[in-house]
Amino acid sequence: MKIYKAIKDDHDIQRDLIEKISKTSGDSEERNQLWKELKKELEVHAVAEERYFYAPLIDTDEMQEDARHGIAEHHEMDELIKELDQTDMSSPHWKATMDKLGETVLHHLEDEEEEFFEKAKDIYSQKDAEKLAKDYEDSMKKYRGSWAEGIPGNE
Ligand SMILES: [Fe+2]
Ligand SMILES: [Fe+2]
Repeated sequence: MKIYKAIKDDHDIQRDLIEKISKTSGDSEERNQLWKELKKELEVHAVAEERYFYAPLIDTDEMQEDARHGIAEHHEMDELIKELDQTDMSSPHWKATMDKLGETVLHHLEDEEEEFFEKAKDIYSQKDAEKLAKDYEDSMKKYRGSWAEGIPGNE
């Protein structure tokens, strides 16, 4: 497997959770559970993706700007996640902020899949892309397992 497919599979998990959350309401058990899952998926994915997809691209002329743009969007998502955590889940503000996070994430995933992956295919060899997928998946496994105690790069 190559890095693009490994990342796409996790993007699909995020899309599914966003869709499910949009169908919940109030401070329900279900919404709490789904939110916890989405937050974890977004946070662990951003760390692993920055390390095994974006970091090597920062050093290239072709993709430095794209890599910076992608990472900046991860920070935007972090801010929205923080805001959601500080907001009463049954308030309209929570719902509005969640809608905004959902839109931001969906747009970001599209940028990555439609634009950045295509450009990266000219930079990463097939072998690079397979090695990155393996490292990405190993770290996703590790971070998912240890997320409760905090993951590297996330206070
Ligand atoms: Fe990303
Ligand atoms: Fe991503």
